[in-house]
Amino acid sequence: MRPLSLGIGLVLLSVFGMPNTLSAEVSGEAIFQQRCSACHSTGSDRLVGPGLADVTSRRDPAWLKRFIMAPDQVLASGDSIATALFQEYGVAMPNLGTTDAEADALIAFLGAAAATGGERTQPKTIAVATAEQILLGQDLFQGTKRLTNGGPTCNSCHEVTNDAVIGGGVLARELTTVFSRLGGPGVRAILGSPPFPVMQRAYQARPLTDPEVAALVGFLQQADADHALHQPRDYGVKLFGSGVIGALLLLALYSLLWRGRSRGAVHQAIYDRQISST
Ligand code: HEC
Ligand code: HEC
Repeated sequence: MRPLSLGIGLVLLSVFGMPNTLSAEVSGEAIFQQRCSACHSTGSDRLVGPGLADVTSRRDPAWLKRFIMAPDQVLASGDSIATALFQEYGVAMPNLGTTDAEADALIAFLGAAAATGGERTQPKTIAVATAEQILLGQDLFQGTKRLTNGGPTCNSCHEVTNDAVIGGGVLARELTTVFSRLGGPGVRAILGSPPFPVMQRAYQARPLTDPEVAALVGFLQQADADHALHQPRDYGVKLFGSGVIGALLLLALYSLLWRGRSRGAVHQAIYDRQISST
């Protein structure tokens, strides 16, 4: 094994292998804010996933606990509720490594939140990013510009396929189409408070600032749009434009070359001669 991959392996081991010593004292509400609120409201509003207002009465308690602890396994088992949810939302809830005790605390919190009516936690739309924001996002993603609070660059763990960005880590998921998968509010929510343990630890003490989040969301949206064109960035419009200009030039050239061509039918001249000779 190369020293680098060994190093990454060790980092992962220390992150994942660490027992969550806090879980016993942490309240369901705190866990919810930290790990779930990026994608769920405690009201009825749909964010990345469904609003969880009445989920404790809507679902069987045993199912609920299993799903919160290992949604990926419940889905993989062919469970009909999980399958229907996945089809409806188009996104699979990730396994967040939630422990037994944490799941109990979360369910207790959700039950209490339902009793008080819950509330929405995040707006559903995002502002359109400017060209400067997209460029800044790209620089931040690949580390040509440093993050204000000194967090690690995104491409040390992630990769995005875009001709402007050179390579990236493969430790975490490829993000080229994450914007289509999670939507603008979903991506922004994840960057605002990462629900994934590895990413959470990377940015806990060095959070992204709001302008950085907006720039990165803009960049990921752009990368996704570029990918959808199946063309490297910019070529789409330029190629179309040069095609149109080329066609116009050819048309102008042909009409110039053929300006002396006879306009009537070929036999017109013969006919005219016949007429005048009789
Ligand atoms: C990255 C986004 C994301 C995060 C973070 C997330 N979820 Fe989800 N969750 C989803 C999506 C998407 C669905 C619906 C699709 C599916 O089932 O995978 C869902 C579904 C659920 C459901 C089933 C809802 C129903 O109507 O039956 C529950 C319960 C749930 N999540 C609880 C949680 C809890 C508790 C946390 C925090 C520990 C959490 N989720 C974190 C995205 C997320
Ligand atoms: C220390 C490694 C690490 C760093 C640095 C990191 N991430 Fe992540 N990220 C992860 C992991 C692990 C996941 C969980 C999903 C997976 O398995 O890839 C994740 C998930 C995500 C997701 C959700 C992916 C999905 O499809 O559900 C987004 C979006 C994301 N990261 C964006 C970023 C951005 C933007 C940055 C830079 C500000 C960044 N990440 C930095 C490790 C990292």
